[in-house]
Amino acid sequence: ARDFKLADHPAIPRGIPLMLIVLDGWGEQPDGEYNAISKASTPIMDSLKKGHPDYWRLVKAHGPAVGLPLESDMGNSEVGHNAMGAGRIYKQGAGLVDSALADGSMFTGGWKQIQETIEKGCTLHLLGLLSDGGVHARLDQVWGLLGGAIERGAKKVRLHILTDGRDVADGSSFEYVEKLEKYIEELNSKGADVKIASGGGRMRVTMDRYETDWEVVERGWHAHVLGEAPNKYTTAAEALKDLRAKDPKVNDQYYPPWVVVDDAGKSVGTIEDGDAVVIWNFRADRVVMISKAFDFEDKDFPFFDRVRRPKVTLAGMLEYDVEIHLPSIHLVDPPQIEGTSGEYLAKNHVRSYACSETVKFGHMTFFWNGNRSGYFDAKYEKYVEIPTDKGIQFNEKPPMKAAEIAEAAAAAFKSGEWDFVRVNFPNADMVGHTGDMEATVVGCEAADKGVEVLLKAVEDAGGIYLVTADHGNAEEMVKHDKDGKPVLTKDGTPQKLTAHTCAPVPVAIGGPGLPKNIKLRKDLPGAGLANVAATFINLCGLEAPSDMEPTLLEVVEQ
Ligand code: 3PG
Ligand code: CO
Repeated sequence: ARDFKLADHPAIPRGIPLMLIVLDGWGEQPDGEYNAISKASTPIMDSLKKGHPDYWRLVKAHGPAVGLPLESDMGNSEVGHNAMGAGRIYKQGAGLVDSALADGSMFTGGWKQIQETIEKGCTLHLLGLLSDGGVHARLDQVWGLLGGAIERGAKKVRLHILTDGRDVADGSSFEYVEKLEKYIEELNSKGADVKIASGGGRMRVTMDRYETDWEVVERGWHAHVLGEAPNKYTTAAEALKDLRAKDPKVNDQYYPPWVVVDDAGKSVGTIEDGDAVVIWNFRADRVVMISKAFDFEDKDFPFFDRVRRPKVTLAGMLEYDVEIHLPSIHLVDPPQIEGTSGEYLAKNHVRSYACSETVKFGHMTFFWNGNRSGYFDAKYEKYVEIPTDKGIQFNEKPPMKAAEIAEAAAAAFKSGEWDFVRVNFPNADMVGHTGDMEATVVGCEAADKGVEVLLKAVEDAGGIYLVTADHGNAEEMVKHDKDGKPVLTKDGTPQKLTAHTCAPVPVAIGGPGLPKNIKLRKDLPGAGLANVAATFINLCGLEAPSDMEPTLLEVVEQ
């Protein structure tokens, strides 16, 4: 068993309050025309960067440094917050699914129960994000799952697809659907009965997170399960084309729900008692809510009227919540993230306060704690959620709730009730994902103002700060080729980059409470977000667990 007792740090006393700030989607790249962060007026973050190199450095936030398969894999919030919270690098969902497909174990565990329903002749429904982004899902894995199911005797398969445009370029849904249709044709020519049955854009249909807006999931439930949507088409491709032509605000992220119907106008794929449903996303946050809709009894499900809840066998590609075991069946075991900083700090009686607005709230709690919901010890922890506005696209209100988050966290910090306050400002990421340059500039400015408020609180309370980010996004708003030139679309304008990047992120420390002999190390060129955990544990006055990635701090001779 793990010994959770941590020794006192030799040079940093306990009890100096620490403020940790995560700027979501704030990567470091050269200034430029398409860098929303350098375009924005961000005096506070600029002053940290221009300060002494003893107090500002970069760390990696993408690829193998955060447990992703390839050096070309951009970072994301799940792996970033997992790494910061756990202080270790785990092989993450994308890679675990790759391995399970390669060695066949995908079809030997939880799959057995899906297999039983297939053998009874029931319909198999596959649902998830149709994307090559590798953040929530990947196309080759969907093909692997679908092909593997057919090989194992599945006859009738219905697909429910959410279009992306957020981790990949807007409009890529057309290409992905074409590829999927082609694969389906191949399978059907050999006797299978596979069809796309319903879909919608991920931000409007099904893939809400942290209960920002249950209506998103309700729309998905109606389309996927009940086979009802205002928009009815005979093919998915037609749906994508027609809905875009009808409304210029529609894009891959925000397609309304649609269903595919037969000649009689009836849905080709409602979900019925006895059917099997497999959700192919490996990432948890945006499929927890739909999983609950399938798995929870009426008495535990006050969120919307499901009208009809079919008794299905539901499996997740991974287990999405390891604490409550949701869904009850999964195909691939998630990373075993144990002994996180949150658990260590609670067990060493460091009083921790976490805050963000809804869309990033679970990042600072659920992801931070290794995909666990709830407290380790409520006596030493408080998690505060500022409600995100519902039903808007984030470029419509780029400051989001930065001011409210800052206000809450500053008050908590000054109260003296907390030793460690951690917050996430979502702006650079959430507005960055819209591809709207001007709005993202405004969002970055709002985040910088939030940092200003918090650093002032640190100053007033004699505390320490650590400012960092989870991955890049806003610093690269258009796609660049390998020579660094913007990639142009057919009409000659630069192609918007809505996705994250492979940029490194800053780590800055300071504040009146930081002992004079503590500096950031300049070695560890390969350091990444996992090194942040030992760093903040040290700043709380404790030695870090020996199995965490090394601290970024050094104690210098005076
Ligand atoms: C999302 O879920 O919003 C994006 O796919 C990834 O963004 P995040 O990793 O910053 O949450
Ligand atoms: Co993001």
